[in-house]
Amino acid sequence: MTRRRRIYEGKAKVLFEGPEPGTLVQYFKDDATAFNNQKKGVITGKGVLNNRISEYLMSRLSEIGVPTHFMRRLNMREQLVREVEIIPIEVVVRNVAAGSLSRRFGIPEGTPLPRSIIEYYYKSDELGDPMVSEEHITAFGWAAPQDLDDMVALSLRVNDYLSGLFLGIGLKLVDFKLEFGRLWENEEMRIVLADEISPDNCRLWDVKTNEKLDKDRFRQDLGRVEEAYQEVARRLGILPEG
Ligand code: C5P
Repeated sequence: MTRRRRIYEGKAKVLFEGPEPGTLVQYFKDDATAFNNQKKGVITGKGVLNNRISEYLMSRLSEIGVPTHFMRRLNMREQLVREVEIIPIEVVVRNVAAGSLSRRFGIPEGTPLPRSIIEYYYKSDELGDPMVSEEHITAFGWAAPQDLDDMVALSLRVNDYLSGLFLGIGLKLVDFKLEFGRLWENEEMRIVLADEISPDNCRLWDVKTNEKLDKDRFRQDLGRVEEAYQEVARRLGILPEG
């Protein structure tokens, strides 16, 4: 495929103009960042693995009726997606205490939460993605109340489905982050899942050993980062050759 116009470059992905109007090509890099860009590195092969893992998870979600921006994988590092207007809110769903929740409230990592907890963060590199409430989101017009209702309902469905899917391959879905976009079709707007779902934005622990198989291995310098992403792909039955 010939090189297309670059629309946006993020920390782990690049978006190029797609072959048809209303489409984009999402390219997965090996670059990794953590702690709001303070830690930078490269996880060799991560882009290839995340492209496959996200393709697999978005496809399964689509089959159960969760609308997503994903159309199809194009090659090792690229997938075709629908162009959406990204809502500047990160939705985090937590099942088990870890990361910033453990730090903020002093709850030991690994403590099961009494029920799944949803948090919102405003996407802003300059501000360091501050945590925000529903009030902030609707008052500042980042999302309409109905958009937010849809985002929450979809996030809970994604959590139910993915928790079961990962449990089936011996992985605990501790928490994850989702992004959503607005998609217009025939003058109607729908909220759809966007971005990616991969060990970059999920915490996944082995159910027996609690071994971390996600980006915390990079954040916490635990080593064997690429192997962890490979292990997730292997358990999903989608380990790419070579
Ligand atoms: O760091 P924290 O505990 O708030 O992260 C919660 C979840 O959201 C983790 O799975 C993490 O990988 C994900 N996350 C993300 N992008 C961010 C912040 C968190 O994917 N900017």
